[in-house]
Amino acid sequence: MGTLRAVARYYVTTPIYYVNDAPHVGHAYATVNADALARWHRLVGDDVLFLTGTDEHGLKVAQAAAANGTTPEEWTNRLAPRFQAAWAQLDVSNDDFIRTTEARHHRAVQAFLGKIYDNGFIYLSTYKGWYCVACEQYYAESELVEGNCPDHGRPAEWYEEENYFFRLSAFQDDLLAWYDSEPSAVMPESKRNEASSFVKGGLQDISITRTSLEWGVQVPWDAGHVFYVWYDALVNYLTAIGYGEDPERFAAWWPAVHHLIGKEITRFHCVWWPAMCMAAGIDPPSQVLVHGWLLVGGEKMSKSGLNQISPGELVDDFGVDAVRYHLLRDTPLGSDGDFSYEGLTARYNADLANNLGNLLARVATVVGSKCGGVGPAPDPSSRLAGIADGVVAQAARAWSESQPHAALEAAWRLIRETNSELEAAEPWKAIPGPEVDAVLGSALEALRIVSLLAFPAMPRACSEIRARIGLPPDPGPELMPASAAWGGYPGGLEVLKGPALFPRRRV
Ligand code: MSP
Repeated sequence: MGTLRAVARYYVTTPIYYVNDAPHVGHAYATVNADALARWHRLVGDDVLFLTGTDEHGLKVAQAAAANGTTPEEWTNRLAPRFQAAWAQLDVSNDDFIRTTEARHHRAVQAFLGKIYDNGFIYLSTYKGWYCVACEQYYAESELVEGNCPDHGRPAEWYEEENYFFRLSAFQDDLLAWYDSEPSAVMPESKRNEASSFVKGGLQDISITRTSLEWGVQVPWDAGHVFYVWYDALVNYLTAIGYGEDPERFAAWWPAVHHLIGKEITRFHCVWWPAMCMAAGIDPPSQVLVHGWLLVGGEKMSKSGLNQISPGELVDDFGVDAVRYHLLRDTPLGSDGDFSYEGLTARYNADLANNLGNLLARVATVVGSKCGGVGPAPDPSSRLAGIADGVVAQAARAWSESQPHAALEAAWRLIRETNSELEAAEPWKAIPGPEVDAVLGSALEALRIVSLLAFPAMPRACSEIRARIGLPPDPGPELMPASAAWGGYPGGLEVLKGPALFPRRRV
């Protein structure tokens, strides 16, 4: 009987994107990272749920619909599919796509906030303050820059209305205790420190409803109010796992959640959201992973900034795997990165065309000329065996620590070493025989291992590599990282030459 492994649950989410912005490379960065993590966790045998979606309520969307002469319903129905199409084009393997206008979401928001209300953490009062419609957020006067929103640089507006408030101030101690007791709950550590200093600075109760707007989820105990878009949006993470409707499913997935978010929404996810969970009597999320921004010429991509690059155009130009690889390899999760065509082209040529593509092409060619197109078995005592062991351990650790760039960096070390090994042995010049077989079998084994380690990043290319060396295109059912142990390539399989996987691009 095989060893039984307890199945872990891995629930990963992206933020839900405001539907009125077109999907751009910054959004793609976030979604592809979540996708790669989901794919890695599937490879190691975890039970995975990967959720993304669109944030469709609020003033911003209502205003955009009005400006386009249509209703918010029609407007959101027109725009949400753009995100679905963009993710399909990027081979994103989300299990669910949530739209906050769906009935299931309205029910979950009402159940969740109703519970917080029943628990005594919501009360009625009057709000007066500065509001930025683009952020859908109130700002203290001191946070404004010459009267302008610190993020969008446009004038904040003065609002005064009767609102329901969430008693955030009641959760100061619980939040601080949570940051202390769960050191990996907010990653990287710098973001945990940022959240905890904010909480130590004192928490104000926050307004969570609006009366000036109809486009939202109605407050169940007071029909004149709708929930403020952020409080509706955050609940999407619960809607998708049956909060309030399917207790068994909810218990299976909560709190095994990993929220991947951009740095500007840290406060919502690391302060407000865990406090709301506590107020509703559920555990806070297991982890919030905060990433940086992709910048273009030093600035964040945004609709107003007119510096958006469409992921679809890049995919048409470079291919889906190259775009995914570049996003994952060049901007470590947690840091800001620069996006440029030059950077993408350089990475493509160096890592994909020259290293990986070249390795596959030369191995397939020489197996064709020296081994009759049948791949030999690897050499158990190859120098590459030790290197592969180290690489697999390093890459597996990096994937499990949500560091795709480091996992890929490790995998490419094996590719480079394999290319060096071939250059030293020059099997293309040698007489066919056991030595040539050993060198080529080991190179094929290295390719098999890379096809596993890089699969979460480039599922299509890795499947193609596997097919060309005679393996089933889909990795599994054996589980990583055990399936990447040296010696797994059986030999005796047909190896096919094919068109260049990543044709070199002119700079
Ligand atoms: N709707 C809210 C999120 C609600 S989640 C309960 C929102 N939407 S957003 O469309 O403005 O941003 C969604 C995510 O995209 C954020 O995490 C943001 O950081 C990310 N990005 C937007 N532009 C980005 C870059 N240029 N680079 C990297 N990520 C960026 O906020």
